[in-house]
Amino acid sequence: MSKKILLQHINVPGINTLETYVSHGGYQSLKKAFSMTPDEVTEEVKKSGLRGRGGAGFPTGMKWSFLDKKTDKPRYLVCNADESEPGTFKDRYLMQNIPHALIEGMIVSSYALGAKTSYIYVRGEMMHVIRILEAAIKDAYRAGYLGNNILGSNYSLDLFVHPGGGAYICGEETALLESLEGNRGNPRNKPPFPAVWGLYGCPTVVNNVETISDVPWIINNGGDAYASIGIGKSTGTKLISACGNINRPGVYEIELGLSVEEFIYSDQYCGGIPNGKKLKAVVAGGSSVPILPADLILKTANGDPRLMSYESLSDGGFVSGTMLGSGGFIVYDEDQCIVRNLWNFSRFYHHESCGQCSPCREGTGWMEKVLHRIENGHGKMSDIDLLVDVAKKIEGKTICPLGEAAAWPVASAIRHFRAEFEEHIKNPDSCCKKHLHSEHALIH
Ligand SMILES: Cc1cc2nc3c(=O)[nH]c(=O)nc-3n(C[C@H](O)[C@H](O)[C@H](O)COP(=O)(O)O)c2cc1C
Repeated sequence: MSKKILLQHINVPGINTLETYVSHGGYQSLKKAFSMTPDEVTEEVKKSGLRGRGGAGFPTGMKWSFLDKKTDKPRYLVCNADESEPGTFKDRYLMQNIPHALIEGMIVSSYALGAKTSYIYVRGEMMHVIRILEAAIKDAYRAGYLGNNILGSNYSLDLFVHPGGGAYICGEETALLESLEGNRGNPRNKPPFPAVWGLYGCPTVVNNVETISDVPWIINNGGDAYASIGIGKSTGTKLISACGNINRPGVYEIELGLSVEEFIYSDQYCGGIPNGKKLKAVVAGGSSVPILPADLILKTANGDPRLMSYESLSDGGFVSGTMLGSGGFIVYDEDQCIVRNLWNFSRFYHHESCGQCSPCREGTGWMEKVLHRIENGHGKMSDIDLLVDVAKKIEGKTICPLGEAAAWPVASAIRHFRAEFEEHIKNPDSCCKKHLHSEHALIH
């Protein structure tokens, strides 16, 4: 059995309540953290090697140490619980089932950063999660874990839940801050980064739900203990939301370094592919990361087993690699149509582009239209290179990475499955008719 940090007590009845959470060691990290200086807490997180679990994998301790502490302005910690990336559903699982893990993490992390007011920005559609968190926060206030002079430490914190604006772009950290301030969720130009100019123009750290929920374990057990789990610079465990053509969809906590093959085929995790079908492709880190065909997701171009880690998944760059991203793991069996699934993603990105940058606003629309006509039997051979060209013209030319998130799936699908696009154009009846009458794409 691999190490469990976040989901160790997931099957304990009542673990969503404060009493049961405390009786299983919950909120112990507060006393330990308050016996340390804020900088010592940050140092421990640095030592752990924890990397942001929101997608980019930026080292958390280093991000915290960038926070501008020279100014007299208030500092904020904002938790990014917007989770709208297709294929990713790990944060809501954590918040819904063990809400106090995030609240405990928010208290310790806010202490390290010197924040006196902190926010959890939750995707607006997840009203049930918002209600669960609000009730849990009330209980934490009642127990003296939040509010004035927490556990006699002289440290005080107020924690608020804020319902999100209802758009995928509000998960981009600067759009999130705009939205939290009451504005339309448009990403900001950077620099200045949030560490200097964040919420209300004050120094701010934005971290993902899973990242923050890892902090109590690190403080209880030490950064070195966390760093000893996982592989290389991919330390610790990672929540993976697995879906698509697998026998056991769900949220799994894996030790980083597990082989992709074991993750897909072991009964402990995805349990293989239903009906004895063959693996066709995997999107390993949420809809934004490059899709890989079966041979390349199981083995790197050098023939080494591909591992669930930041380094191994990106081995080969964008030619033959992908990314761990947010941990949204989507499996495609041999019957899945890559063109149809890609069109489905492109529809999403077109809908969610905020429209600030022309390459993204226009380009996502063009990609969706061209994919729609290929999928529906009206494509031209030149459309394939047109798609690659449009994707290239978005990449690197936008304020925020939503542009890349829309371009990478298109570029990688054509790189690895060009023949399937050509077949759609040459012989539309072979595939499209079947899809029009039967199945939908995997992710709706
Ligand atoms: C379009 C877009 C959507 C994003 N959505 C989320 C999200 O829902 N949750 C999240 O944690 N990070 C999301 N991110 C990444 C955040 O901008 C940011 O990197 C992250 O919250 C930092 O937290 P971490 O360092 O703990 O990973 C998104 C980025 C982009 C470009």
